[in-house]
Amino acid sequence: MQIEIFDSELKLAERAADLFEDTIRKNPAAVLGLATGASPVNTYNELIERYRAGKISFADITTFNLDEYCDLPRDDKNSYYSFMQQNLFGKVDIRPENVHIENGNADDFDAEAAAYDRAIEAAGGIDLQLLGIGTNGHIGFNEPADAFTDGTFRIKLTESTIKANSRYFTDSEMPRYALTMGIASIMHAKKILLIATGKAKAEAIYNTVKGPITPRCPASVLRLHQNAILLLDTEAASLL
Ligand code: GLP
Repeated sequence: MQIEIFDSELKLAERAADLFEDTIRKNPAAVLGLATGASPVNTYNELIERYRAGKISFADITTFNLDEYCDLPRDDKNSYYSFMQQNLFGKVDIRPENVHIENGNADDFDAEAAAYDRAIEAAGGIDLQLLGIGTNGHIGFNEPADAFTDGTFRIKLTESTIKANSRYFTDSEMPRYALTMGIASIMHAKKILLIATGKAKAEAIYNTVKGPITPRCPASVLRLHQNAILLLDTEAASLL
């Protein structure tokens, strides 16, 4: 696992955007795995700027998002669908039909999860997967558990995640369940890029890099990936 540490969030975002740009230039029809949360926002802004400057195009790009809340209307302001529209998709030339986000309102969650995995496979797999990390070491919504998870599935969120993410749900209750790519889905990506910034992530990053490789800290599995890069700011890296 490669680790790079930056003294500013903007420099970190530029580096992350460089890695995206490189993937897109090598293959304009690349398949990107995308993440939500605060961590990737600067990177998405940087990608939007590069798109506006004519340096990159998303016209032939396909995307798969990591996760989506269950039982939250797709157009709710807190859905990950809305997040992606606001922070990236609505501002670049990606084709709506090439965008994939789990349907958290599916009648049959197992069928939805299986169809999502099949769609990733049919697209040729993910070339570059972007990740944030939860304060408990979760990636996507793969919460600490007794075993690493496999493909996309529905998960009950932990109290610590509900506490961390509730701040966004000011006028509605935060969902208790989500659909998420599993650990195996994430590990199948050809390249993985994890972004972590701020003191609140320092312990999770310590456990990811220095602790045992265990499903109790899901991100620790990334040490087994051939091509995983951690981009950290000095605060997130402060316990290393
Ligand atoms: C959520 C998402 C994760 C994300 C994590 C951290 O739980 N499911 O994909 O990495 O939060 O979010 P943030 O970047 O806002 O700290």
